[in-house]
Amino acid sequence: ATKWPGLIEAYRRYLPVTSATPVVTLLEGNTPLIPAPSISQRVGRGVQVFVKYDGLNPTGSFKDRGMTLAISKAKEAGAKAVICASTGNTSAAAAAYARRGGMRAFVLIPDGYVALGKLAQALLYGAEVLAIKGNFDQALKIVREMAATYPVTLVNSVNPYRLEGQKTSAFEIVDVLGRAPDWLCIPVGNAGNITAYWMGFCQYHEEGKCDSLPKMMGFQAAGAAPIISGKPVEHPETVATAIRIGNPANWEKAIAVQQASQGEFNAVTDAEIIEAYKILAAEEGVFCEPASAASVAGLLKVKDQVPAGATVVCVLTGNGLKDPETAIKNNDSPFYQGVEPTLEAVAGVMGF
Ligand code: F0G
Repeated sequence: ATKWPGLIEAYRRYLPVTSATPVVTLLEGNTPLIPAPSISQRVGRGVQVFVKYDGLNPTGSFKDRGMTLAISKAKEAGAKAVICASTGNTSAAAAAYARRGGMRAFVLIPDGYVALGKLAQALLYGAEVLAIKGNFDQALKIVREMAATYPVTLVNSVNPYRLEGQKTSAFEIVDVLGRAPDWLCIPVGNAGNITAYWMGFCQYHEEGKCDSLPKMMGFQAAGAAPIISGKPVEHPETVATAIRIGNPANWEKAIAVQQASQGEFNAVTDAEIIEAYKILAAEEGVFCEPASAASVAGLLKVKDQVPAGATVVCVLTGNGLKDPETAIKNNDSPFYQGVEPTLEAVAGVMGF
């Protein structure tokens, strides 16, 4: 087996780095593209579904792809501190990479709306965490002003290096499939990742690495679906707290992606998200966080539109371990507590 060097080294020729760039890496990327036979069967008509399990990155989400580059470039520019607003995953990734690069990490999160695993990570990675009595959109406005006024580098997805790093996931998909998928299904919050994937597919297409481009299918949570309704949502609400965003920073870019790829945006309800989340875990053995399951919920919702025999990739952006509370709350598997520690009692519970 060859050693995986992290995504900056693996895709150096496609990225804005030079020999002068200090590479801050946790060997992110190279995540598995896992066949999803149960979901394929639900879609039917010979459609082949894969999940790109980006929850297996070092801090458990796709944000590591963007952060390795954003932090390396910040370090190259001499930054001593970075800042971001976050629904949780960006804060964990920013903290890990900034600290590894020897910088301070300031993170603003919506108080009470960040999954426990993400908060635990940001704190332990050594971020300076400010819980704001407001939502993500308000936090993002503040950090943009902070970065414009003080010597702190903004590492939200309005930082172009974030998208450059995140586009590598599209490269990996094409490298594994040997072609671009027909459809790419992806959850949309601040709309950076859908923009990044499209950049990656287009760049590979220009390089002759694939002959076609996917239809980009973006899915928002119904309670936080400004791109579908066409106007900002002042009070976004969804169980998928990662995408609880009412005014996406990359809104216009995402519309351009939808148009160029002849894709679509659709909304999925919290019930549909939780249903897909459970199917992924219990039938495919893949535990993702609720926001990630929006890609599969969306595919199942519009499955009749998928061409027969098509290849579909659903992006699973974050690990299920990020949000244990939502998992336990929505569990309906049997859980027998206080069972006597005897063979008879155990066999009896099992009905043998
Ligand atoms: N899935 C997960 C697990 C996320 O954490 C996010 C965004 C998205 C999907 C949406 O990606 O914003 O590029 O459209 N999380 C950000 C954060 C907002 O702060 O961690 P997007």
